[in-house]
Amino acid sequence: MQGHQIRSLFLRYFEERGHVVVPSSSLVPNDPTLLLTNAGMNQFKPYLLGLQGAPYPRAATSQKVFRAVDIDNVGHTDRHLTFFEMLGNFSFGDYFKEGAIPFAYELVTEGYGIDPARMWVTVYEQDDEAERIWLDTGIPAERIVRRGRFDAHGEPANFWWMHVAGPCGPCSEIFIDRGERFGPDGGPNVDEDRFCEIWNLVFMQDECDEQANVIRPLPKKNIDTGSSLERVAMVLQDGANVFETDLLRPLLEAAVELTGHTYGRDERADVSLRIMAEHGRATSFLIADGVRPSNEGRGYVLRRMLRRLVTNARRLGVERPVMPELVETTVRMMGEAYPDLKDNEAFILQVATSEEEHFLATYRHGMVLFEQEVEKAKSSGTGVFPGEAAFRLHDTFGFQEQLTTELAAEEGLQVDETEFARLMQEQRDRARERRKKGGFAEEDLASVAAEAGRTEFVGYDRLVSDGRVAGIVADDGRVDVAGEGDNVRVVLDRTALYAEGGGQVGDAGVVRTAGGVVRVRETKAGPGGTIVHEGVVESGEIRAGEEAHAEVDAEFRAGTTRAHTATHVIHHTIRAILGEHARQAGSLIRPGDLRFDFSHYEGVPRETFEEVEEISNRRLLQDDPVRAFETTFEEARNEGAIALFEEKYGDIVRVVEVGDYSIELCGGTHVRHTGQVGLIRLVQEGSIGSGMRRLEALVGPDAVRHVNVERRLLEEVSEALGGGDPALAPERARQRVAEVKRLQSELGRLRREQQAGEISSLAGSAAAIAGDGLWVEQTYEGRTADELREMALALRGRLAGRAAVAVLGSANDGSAVLVAAATDEAIAKGIEAPRVLETAAKAIGGGAGGKPPLAFAGGRNAAGLSEAVGLARGRFESLLAG
Ligand code: SER
Repeated sequence: MQGHQIRSLFLRYFEERGHVVVPSSSLVPNDPTLLLTNAGMNQFKPYLLGLQGAPYPRAATSQKVFRAVDIDNVGHTDRHLTFFEMLGNFSFGDYFKEGAIPFAYELVTEGYGIDPARMWVTVYEQDDEAERIWLDTGIPAERIVRRGRFDAHGEPANFWWMHVAGPCGPCSEIFIDRGERFGPDGGPNVDEDRFCEIWNLVFMQDECDEQANVIRPLPKKNIDTGSSLERVAMVLQDGANVFETDLLRPLLEAAVELTGHTYGRDERADVSLRIMAEHGRATSFLIADGVRPSNEGRGYVLRRMLRRLVTNARRLGVERPVMPELVETTVRMMGEAYPDLKDNEAFILQVATSEEEHFLATYRHGMVLFEQEVEKAKSSGTGVFPGEAAFRLHDTFGFQEQLTTELAAEEGLQVDETEFARLMQEQRDRARERRKKGGFAEEDLASVAAEAGRTEFVGYDRLVSDGRVAGIVADDGRVDVAGEGDNVRVVLDRTALYAEGGGQVGDAGVVRTAGGVVRVRETKAGPGGTIVHEGVVESGEIRAGEEAHAEVDAEFRAGTTRAHTATHVIHHTIRAILGEHARQAGSLIRPGDLRFDFSHYEGVPRETFEEVEEISNRRLLQDDPVRAFETTFEEARNEGAIALFEEKYGDIVRVVEVGDYSIELCGGTHVRHTGQVGLIRLVQEGSIGSGMRRLEALVGPDAVRHVNVERRLLEEVSEALGGGDPALAPERARQRVAEVKRLQSELGRLRREQQAGEISSLAGSAAAIAGDGLWVEQTYEGRTADELREMALALRGRLAGRAAVAVLGSANDGSAVLVAAATDEAIAKGIEAPRVLETAAKAIGGGAGGKPPLAFAGGRNAAGLSEAVGLARGRFESLLAG
């Protein structure tokens, strides 16, 4: 059975049994507590927690899932993947264990056709009920294993939670015996390679905190199941591992092709090939869902994986970029099932390849550090590669520990793993502390959300609203009353203030109750669809439950609104001029000013920049209407609306149309007619790395002010050049620059002449010493090491033919520098420049270094300079004497 057949069989099986097939949600979850979508149930969390009524009692999905915890296992085991497709069926308060277990049994045995004699199951240690149902279904007692929360290795076992606060419950896992060629008999407790877990049934009945402590029962009992499509394919295709199923094999073959290494010959090379295949697929999906490489959060996960992939390719000797091939293969294989992948192919390619190129440069720098450390470690003779250096390679240059370990082993060195682990732990602890600090308010807001539900936003057409205070969170937690001066986050049941989203900053304004006024600094989206007003109680007191009147700061809103419509107009213009690939990758919309990131691989020339500005402004002059309406995601897409990454199939979305040219999915606020934007002034455009450009613009009165600033600048420049017509300022500036250049070269010529004179007289002052020895010395004030070097080399040329040494020194602000040059004849007698300076360097409080013909010394004791020169001369004489 091919992968796509398993996928559709699963979905059809549950569809026939009353489940609504829901499309996969994005890998970037709509859940601020979660980094990346880590289970099929993520998109259903509000239903499972009872925060929102489920629109259907049963659902089934094939969900894109990402598990960063498994990154280091990938390639080394048969079955670990970071990205995989999770097949799942869900019941929201409908059937429970008595439904889920027989469904699973029937699908595995009859649907997939797996012999029931190959099936083993685990149940939670106290779950007699699940055990009884399995027995009734037909699994004999000797193939039912009880497990606790954690298995023998401390890994989570038969209790499932999201690894962040949320719904949880005991679970029951299904294992399939792959046969004796994969390991010893005896069930999953003996060998989880031979007995492979393919499906996890979670009986979601409780809610837990971040540490998996159960805090309360859920309002209803739910079912959440998850089955890795890749593992099912491995079992059904009798593959040795998930990489050899049809779902991953073409990627493995692409890696083989790229590296020229045959798969299955050398285990170490195989690990690298598997990593290339898996990470190539996973990173393509992450980028398709809008993740971009960065140094934190999900961007860091992506960056780390791309680096791991690239270093593995390098280990196998590949010099050229590998991402294009891997991205293309992924899109070819999976574009049909995941159209977002196909739609975004150019974008994915661009992000992946520029990150790869960027990293290759870092990699080369990392290798320099690595080689230095190897040299040091070798000369110290301990055979140990310092843990601190391994950590630095990891942290700064993205070298995985394993890579460093292997590279070091090739040099006969062993990485100090204890020290490395200690530094890594320190770093993790720091990260955990930071997370904890940010976490409290989130939890309090979540508890408000659980009681109050979504906030109704009524501010598209109005700037005032009446509602009620649903909850207040102050600095130290949830409160019923907040008084003057308190920092607060206020949740209302209804508000006119726009919450930050889609790049547009949240509104400023005020919230008034009978007893108090809150000055709102910023409005943000909170958990569970709440809108959170952040600010300070300006006067009086506010209380939970009171009626509340909210007012948007009208000028603030007018500014963001103008900027938001301007962003759509600019986006449209950029795509029309640069091409369809130039899509928006992010934006920041503030009152009167906007920042707009888009994918494009080269600089935008001045004329194009001006063209974008001019065409955008012409569009505004048309004074087209701006229209917003709601429709289904599918409908919007059919009409050609540009979708960014947040929406998904099945959603009701808001569409914003500007005239008849721009149509985008957008939740932001807009002007009614483009004429209200005023003026758009592009102020800057530049690269922000990874094939991304950033454009900054000012809008309306802010644009006018900016024009004034520029006018003033030009006037000042013109005045500084002696006044007169500002239009002549550029020409006058060019003349001045040319004049300065001419004077500089004249000055340079004079200096060189002077130096030549100096060199001649220094050469003339050479003192003959013992036969053919010649000695030149001179000290100065304020000459740089470079100047001295040049002079010393000139002298060296002049004195060639004799065993000569010139020592020049200079005192500069209390420190001293010495340069020595030795002729070839001197070197032949063993008089090498560094040796001449050896003792002299000490007198100026420093050390000496260099090559036989030329050496330097530097120190902080300028007072010792003439003594140093004397010592150098003494040294020269004694070397000359042999
Ligand atoms: N949430 C469970 C898991 O991810 C079952 O879907 O394993």
